[in-house]
Amino acid sequence: MMRSYKYEIFTSVIEEQIRNRILLKGERLPSVREIKSRYQLSTSSVQSGFEYLMMKGLIESSPRSGYFVSTIDENHISQVRTDLMPVVRDAVFAKNVMLTSARNKPSESSSFHTAAPGDLLIPQKLILRTMQEVIREKGAALLRYYPSNGLYELRKQISIQMAGHGCVFNPDELIITDGALQALTIALRAVTDPGDIVAVESPCVFSVLEAVANLGLKIIEIPVHYENGFDTDYFREVCNSNTIKAVVVTPNFHNPTGIVMSDDAKKELLSVASLYQTPVIENDIYGDLYFGNKRPRSIKSFDDSGLVMTYSSFSKTLAPGIRLGWLHTGRFYARSERARFVLGRSVSPIYQELMLKLLQGIGYERHLRSFRKQLNRQAIELLNALRDYFPKDSYFHSPEGGYSIWGKLPEGTDMKKFFDYCDKNRILFTPGNTFSLTDEYSHHFRIVFADRITAESLALLENAGKKAKELLEERKQEDGSGKY
Ligand SMILES: Cc1ncc(COP(=O)(O)O)c(C=O)c1O
Repeated sequence: MMRSYKYEIFTSVIEEQIRNRILLKGERLPSVREIKSRYQLSTSSVQSGFEYLMMKGLIESSPRSGYFVSTIDENHISQVRTDLMPVVRDAVFAKNVMLTSARNKPSESSSFHTAAPGDLLIPQKLILRTMQEVIREKGAALLRYYPSNGLYELRKQISIQMAGHGCVFNPDELIITDGALQALTIALRAVTDPGDIVAVESPCVFSVLEAVANLGLKIIEIPVHYENGFDTDYFREVCNSNTIKAVVVTPNFHNPTGIVMSDDAKKELLSVASLYQTPVIENDIYGDLYFGNKRPRSIKSFDDSGLVMTYSSFSKTLAPGIRLGWLHTGRFYARSERARFVLGRSVSPIYQELMLKLLQGIGYERHLRSFRKQLNRQAIELLNALRDYFPKDSYFHSPEGGYSIWGKLPEGTDMKKFFDYCDKNRILFTPGNTFSLTDEYSHHFRIVFADRITAESLALLENAGKKAKELLEERKQEDGSGKY
């Protein structure tokens, strides 16, 4: 069940009235006091609501006069969001990205911040045995260049695999890549030029933000809601007032929230994208890690026009050290292939042959079946622990697949102190601020459950929860409101 912000009770009404032109540009909004008494809210909730509306560019404040409907035109409203771009270069953002990867020594087992299977959940025997077979069978042929778009048999095998999920892939439109991040970079290069605007999810996984920043692109963040996922209405408005060159979306088990878009929402997104001829770059890296009965469909499976580019890799399902991903380019093959070529001629032959052999056998499917079950069990165990250990007004969203839990601590929590404490005690969460160029998620954090949960990891969580409670208690004492 979705937990919403208290202020939504009035911000949704104001948003609706602005959109339907019931409230007009420059018109004064009710005062904080009026809203407080009308909706029975605290001053801070009302203020948070007004800040939220300001952040969306819908209203403006005037010192000592109150709040007014924004007078800037809608095009400008959208542009305001792209002005968030300089924040990409903020040192905190860069530092936090490092926190998620560079700090991991190869020998260190993964923990709550690394979104990749921990050592014990990687099917090591299966992979290493298959690798030895490949070396024996292929020998010195593995030392040559392979085709820059990848081994044909592997492209065919991936197409067969995806056909089982309702996706019609043409192996000639498929490119083998060095992981999913490279696939994303190629897709973006194929359809954008520096300075273009792309739409991304909010919250958005930092690797996507980094790729976008690295290519000199601007972004507009599209909210992902707990109930319906990617906000297609918002996206439509953004497309209406901006030239959006691509939309990057993770419809299945969005990272970090774990949300899946419904088939209707996927079709709706595709229809908006088709209307504006905006290429859809679909990240399906978590699609195979479903907890339910069947794999959710990809947006690509509804597309027969070639506007959707879909990518994935085996980093999340097998092992991140197997540098092998793929990109189905749809109608953007030619530019994609050129972009692929300069990123390293060809993907390592041994990984290509390894994945081909694994996909042809039954070992990979068997591994996926048990991995999914294990992840589902871990999600439940971790959610129960989080809900037990953390302050009662915290929120932890139950994912439908993948392996991350998106959590939020009560607004009174001093998050700097919380993260400093966690850092000192080696409790490695990923702070919410790394998932956006706004401050929208400062009280959120991502907890990954891709490693085995042990008594030790639960003790770490309990310790973090205790600290969060303590910080809240301190805050309560400080302002004497007893509010938190
Ligand atoms: C959305 C997304 N894309 C790409 C990656 C990286 O994947 P790969 O190791 O295949 O490059 C990750 C994980 O870190 C991810 O979550």
